[in-house]
This record gives sequence, structure tokens and C-alpha cells, in this order.
Amino acid sequence: MNKTFDVVVIGAGPGGYIAAIRAAQLGMNVACIDEWKNAAGGPAPGGTCTNVGCIPSKALLQSSEHFEQANHHFADHGIDIKGISLDVERMVGRKDAVVKQNNEGILYLFKKNKVTFMHGRGSFVSSGPEGFGIQVSGANSEQITAKQVVVATGSNARALASAPFDEEHILSNDGALRIGAVPKRLGLIGSGVIGLEMGSVWRRLGAEVTVLEGLPTFLGAVDEQIAKEAKKAFDKQGLKIELGVQVGEIQVAKKGKHTEVHVAYKNAKGESFALEVDKLIVSIGRVPNTVGLNPEAVGLKLDERGAVVVDEECRTSVPGIWAVGDVVRGPMLAHKAEEEGVAVAERMAGQHGHVNFNTIPWVIYTSPEIAWVGQTEQQLKASGRAYKAGTFPFLANGRARALGDTTGMVKMLADAVTDEILGVHIVGPMASELIAECVMAMEFRASSEDIARICHAHPSLSESTKEAALAVDKRTLNF
Ligand code: FAD
Ligand code: NAI
Repeated sequence: MNKTFDVVVIGAGPGGYIAAIRAAQLGMNVACIDEWKNAAGGPAPGGTCTNVGCIPSKALLQSSEHFEQANHHFADHGIDIKGISLDVERMVGRKDAVVKQNNEGILYLFKKNKVTFMHGRGSFVSSGPEGFGIQVSGANSEQITAKQVVVATGSNARALASAPFDEEHILSNDGALRIGAVPKRLGLIGSGVIGLEMGSVWRRLGAEVTVLEGLPTFLGAVDEQIAKEAKKAFDKQGLKIELGVQVGEIQVAKKGKHTEVHVAYKNAKGESFALEVDKLIVSIGRVPNTVGLNPEAVGLKLDERGAVVVDEECRTSVPGIWAVGDVVRGPMLAHKAEEEGVAVAERMAGQHGHVNFNTIPWVIYTSPEIAWVGQTEQQLKASGRAYKAGTFPFLANGRARALGDTTGMVKMLADAVTDEILGVHIVGPMASELIAECVMAMEFRASSEDIARICHAHPSLSESTKEAALAVDKRTLNF
């Protein structure tokens, strides 16, 4: 007899493992299947985020930022260090240890919440009155039955048709996070989130970095004023970003004992160039992943991009099957996947789970960090909504000066009539942490005056958020 579960979650990334835990908390009998293997072939739950995404990238960003600080900024504080050296193997080893801690943390959480974890691939085989039949293929293969299913199978890096990933010279995010030595010349295609974060890591460690971006505008989804400020900072750091390029043929070629990658491209003026690099990271977006899921067996509908079709509440075309995270529409962000996972678990338990898609924050963990929530100024203009804007530069913030990091600003946008906050955009130190206050303010539909009247600790970077709120009413106190 097959084991039967109230809920089977396929995929243990942030969408899946959080859905499994919340469903178990709500009294359901839950199994979570995940196929990711660590180097020893054992389970490595946590998905893209934990294994080759959010966590390892932030570990390397932190390590490389320490290196940058030690090399270029400690002297400003009167700290002179001689003979700084870099051990990339140890740095990558530390990153791997951080990933392992997270994998183990999720296994512990499954145990604590009585979620049955199954290491292997989950594929639909049937649907019937008793539930959905799912084949688990791994070290121990078996078929199980689920009364309800949550599909949380995530996404994969999109490759250029002409240049498949070999993870040796042409790298996805996976290879980009385990380069063993600093490449002298690194190329990136796509100046999106991964392009900027990975480009920053390897530039700080000493690579000559060139980013080729297809669009003529830099970070088109970001508020223009913020994107412009960020671009200025990246230019100053020596991150070479070419906009409006058209990438042509890509070849991996031997040059003596050395292998390099040749990228033919046309610049924005249509002039032809050839970029020669030691490694090429292709970061041109991600595609939903349903490989091996066998959605046809249960009639699960996918869209033209391969994403599982869902409604606002993550219900798929098949009653009893839900889908969350990168495999469905919406931003490909870990916290969005988690929120959907929680909401789906609560809906399965008959509760009213809710995700507010208008208040999902974005963060790009470069230096300066870029973070935002809500609408940009260009979106407000396009929609014809009357708004007021207030900005406050970190240059005028005492804590930023003490930190020695005064790049950037906080920008707040509020409705011209009601004063409701419509968007907050930050470029600068700790933007990733500062944005949380703004998300909460928008969730509670606060006005800019509400933020302006809240006591913020002094000296703190968060005073810049208060000052930006004051600036909406043209009455900053410190600028
Ligand atoms: P995933 O994390 O992709 O997990 C899906 C899991 O399902 C995987 O473990 C996979 O092995 C498993 N699986 C797939 N098919 C099957 C099957 N048939 N059977 C069993 N298991 C299966 N987002 C942020 O919010 N912040 C960041 O800082 C951030 N940084 C990132 C950095 C990089 C380099 C990358 C690539 C992404 C980053 N992201 C970040 C995006 C984030 O990783 C994703 O949005 C998030 O992981 C999506 O979660 P998910 O649960 O939908 O899918
Ligand atoms: P992206 O969508 O952020 O950026 C891709 C970039 O590549 C775009 O600017 C696009 O115009 C460009 N591009 C596309 N095709 C091209 C071509 N043929 N030639 C030149 N340029 C081209 O995608 P990215 O960076 O791959 O990241 C994928 C996703 O992963 C992100 O959208 C995000 O959802 C998630 N992520 C989130 C992070 C975070 O939250 N800090 C960090 C890293 C990834």
C-alpha cells in the first residue's frame, strides 16, 4: 500500500520548504520531496536560494567586500595593513560551509515540524479519487499518494542558444559561485541582478570586469534617479557596463595553453567589437523549471514560458494542485516564494492566506546596495497619478559619515492628495535593512507624515528615511 499524505510538496526551495513547514504546523500530514544533491550525493534542501543563489552569493559578496575594505578603505580609518593576500579556495570553502549550515538547518526544521523529507525526484503518475500518485525516484524509490500537492520546482538559468553552459568557461550562476581563482578578465552578459552582484564580487577580488547589456537603459525596472546614482558608483568602481549591445557569436578558443572566451558584439552605435575574457557569466534571466515533473500525467497547464499557470491564490488548472515561487508568474524572489508557500498552506487548511504583491521588496546586494518597494517615479508618471517626491542624501546623515559610506539617497514617493506612501527607493549603505521599515509602512498604508513623525534613533541610517519623508513635505531638518 502506498503511503498517503495530506500534502506533498515537490521542491524544497524557499517556496516548498516553507509551505511544508506551515502546512505541518496547521496539523496536516506532510511530505516534501527534493532532488538537490550535495557534493557527497546527500540531500541539500533549500533549492536555488540556498545552494546556488541568495545564500552563497551573499557569502561571497561579504567576503569580497571585506577584501575591498581592507585594500582600499581601512587606511581612511588610520589602519594600515601590509601584505594583504587572498585565498580564493578558503573564501569559496567558507561559502560552502555557510550553504551546508543552511541545508542542515532545513533538515532540522523538517524533523522539528514532523515533515517527512524524501530525497529524490518527484513526478506525477496519476490522479484519481484517492488523490494524486507521485513517483519518488532517488536512492529509495517509491510511489506515494497525496490528497493535495504543492509544486515548488523553481527555476533554472536561461542560456544563450548559441552558448550553452559548460560551467568551466561559460558559466551560469552555479559556475559563477565556484570559480576557483580570480579570472584576470571576466565577462558578463546581462546587467541585471546577478550580473551586478557577481560582477561586483569578482571585480573586488581583482578581475577586470566587463558587462554587456542588451537594453539601452541601466536597470530599467529601478527608479531612474536611483539607477543613475547606482551607475555612477559602479562606473567609479571600475565595473565596465556597456548598454544597448547586441551579442553575436560566442566561442571558447585555445590560446597557447590558455583557454579563453571570445564574444563578438555590436555596441549601441552598431560598431562591431570582440571581447576576450577568461570566464563568461551569462545572466540573462531565469526560466521556470518543470523538468521531470511530468505535468501531463495530471493535466497540469503550463504557459508559453513553461511556467505553471496559477490564479492570484496559486491554484493551478487542477483542483488540489497548487504552485508557488519561481515556477509561477511574478518576481523570482525567495521571499515572494516563501509568502506564497505560507499563504497556500493556510488556504489548504481553510484559512485566508494572503500575499500583497504590491509590497514585495527588491534588493540588489551590491555596494552601494539598491532596494525598493512599490512604484517608481516613472511608473507614477505613466499612470498619471499625482504624487509628491522627497529625497535625502546619505551625505547629510551623521551615521553614514561615521561609517565612511555616504553614497546615495533615500527617495520617497507619496500621493499628492492623501499623502499615502506609494514607493520608496534607496541606493546606499544598508539599503537592504532600511527597506523593511518602508515595506511595513506601505503594508499599513502609512502616509509620509506618519514616517516623518516617528522617532528614529540617532545616529542611524534610518534617520534618512525619516528625512526623506520630511522632504516630501519640503521640510527636511538636516539638509
Ligand atoms: P528553488 O529555490 O529553485 O527550489 C526548487 C527546488 O525544487 C530545487 O531544490 C530543485 O532541486 C527541486 N526540484 C525541482 N524539480 C523537482 C522534482 N521534480 N522533484 C524533486 N525536486 C525538484 N532571491 C532573493 O529573494 N534574494 C536574493 O538575494 C537572491 N539571490 C539570488 C542569487 C542568485 C545567483 C540566483 C540564481 C537567485 C537568487 N535569488 C534571490 C532568487 C531565488 O533564489 C529564487 O527566487 C528562489 O530560490 C525561488 O524559490 P523556489 O522555492 O521557487 O525554487
Ligand atoms: P535579470 O532579469 O535580473 O537580468 C537579466 C538582464 O539581462 C536584463 O537586464 C536583460 O535586459 C539582459 N539580457 C537579456 N537577454 C540579453 C542578451 N541576449 N544580451 C544582453 N543582455 C541581455 O536576470 P538575472 O540577473 O539572470 O537574475 C535572474 C533572477 O534571479 C532575477 O531577476 C531575480 O529575480 C533573481 N535574483 C535575485 C537577486 C536578489 O534578489 N538580490 C540576486 C540574483 C538573482
